[in-house]
Amino acid sequence: MTINVGIIGAGAIADDHCNAIHRYSGASLAAVAEINPERRDALKKKYAIPKAYEQWTDLVADPDLHAVVIALPNVLHAPVSLAALQAGKHVLLDKPFALKYAEARRVVDAARRKQKVLMLGMNQRYRQDSQMLKELVDRGELGEIYHAKAFWYRRMGSPKFGTWFVNKKLSGGGCMLDIGVHNLDLTLYLIDNWEPVSVSGQIYGKFGHRGIGEGGWGKSDCNARLKFDVEDFATGLIKFRNQATLELNISWVLHQEQADRNNVELYGTEAGASLAPLKLFRQAKPSGEYEVVVPQNVKIPHRYESRQFNWLDAILGKDKPLCTMDQSLVVQRILDAIYASSASGKEVRLR
Ligand SMILES: NC(=O)c1ccc[n+]([C@@H]2O[C@H](COP(=O)([O-])OP(=O)(O)OC[C@H]3O[C@@H](n4cnc5c(N)ncnc54)[C@H](O)[C@@H]3O)[C@@H](O)[C@H]2O)c1
Repeated sequence: MTINVGIIGAGAIADDHCNAIHRYSGASLAAVAEINPERRDALKKKYAIPKAYEQWTDLVADPDLHAVVIALPNVLHAPVSLAALQAGKHVLLDKPFALKYAEARRVVDAARRKQKVLMLGMNQRYRQDSQMLKELVDRGELGEIYHAKAFWYRRMGSPKFGTWFVNKKLSGGGCMLDIGVHNLDLTLYLIDNWEPVSVSGQIYGKFGHRGIGEGGWGKSDCNARLKFDVEDFATGLIKFRNQATLELNISWVLHQEQADRNNVELYGTEAGASLAPLKLFRQAKPSGEYEVVVPQNVKIPHRYESRQFNWLDAILGKDKPLCTMDQSLVVQRILDAIYASSASGKEVRLR
């Protein structure tokens, strides 16, 4: 069977999706939907996509399609996913899941009802170093992981000003929802801990409102009336049922030495680990000497090509989604709680 895939949104990330789907032998890029005619035509031409729609509703209603990739502004994630699932399509949804947990929940319920593969495109999980660290953690090399620190500090890295990214109504939030979602999802995946009990968070808007820090990501058209009203720095402390903690720090804009710092650090009873570059910190056995190890030849039990291949394999029943719907709901709940805690000034209890 060939999976006929439609892509909705022909912006900055669409090419990555199309490139992968184009290379997958059991799939065909069959349609694109995009409101901007230049971007729609450019993608259609580059990948020889036979059908092009202006409205996503028309693509979702296309009976020839089995599956859709959603690469749209965040505000459209839940409604378009719901409509696609209701129309019987499998869905690969780019991050973040939704503006709010309640919306995400409805999407998951629809996927279960319709028995379709719904997967969030959490590409950081598929990195070679992520997969190697995951294997080391699963083997027990770190012992009990009781603390993690995840950060993505960009110095001058806001998406393009005047686009949906920086406007709360259309994006739901700033750096935490946009890139913090990656570090949060990746850390929970690495430590395999999906039982948060409380969240404290604080968000800050210190630069974008003053017209500072534009990095330029995004292809959407600018609209001068779309004002910057989201955070450009956010911090969160998440406590888990087993008393483990995660400190999460995320910026689009921050005064610091480097232009970009992004890492996940894990602290266990037997060793610590740093993801990028991958290193372990521990006492050597039996000498007790302290050593910093660059793991070599870590055998990864299952080598994933990409999030798109994993999703297509799952549709064909050849594999399971690496990123499950329940995991993505936990991530969304924590994100909601970071914003809620910041607004209330209080810790948010999750159970
Ligand atoms: N996984 C990743 O690492 C990653 C990276 C970048 C972006 N993303 C996510 O992908 C999504 C898209 O991001 P992007 O960078 O491509 O944004 P973008 O602004 O470059 O592109 C969005 C596209 O959607 C189109 N669009 C808007 N409303 C539409 C509608 N009603 N119907 C059809 N098309 C419509 C816009 O015209 C634009 O071309 C976002 O949710 C973003 O968070 C994920």
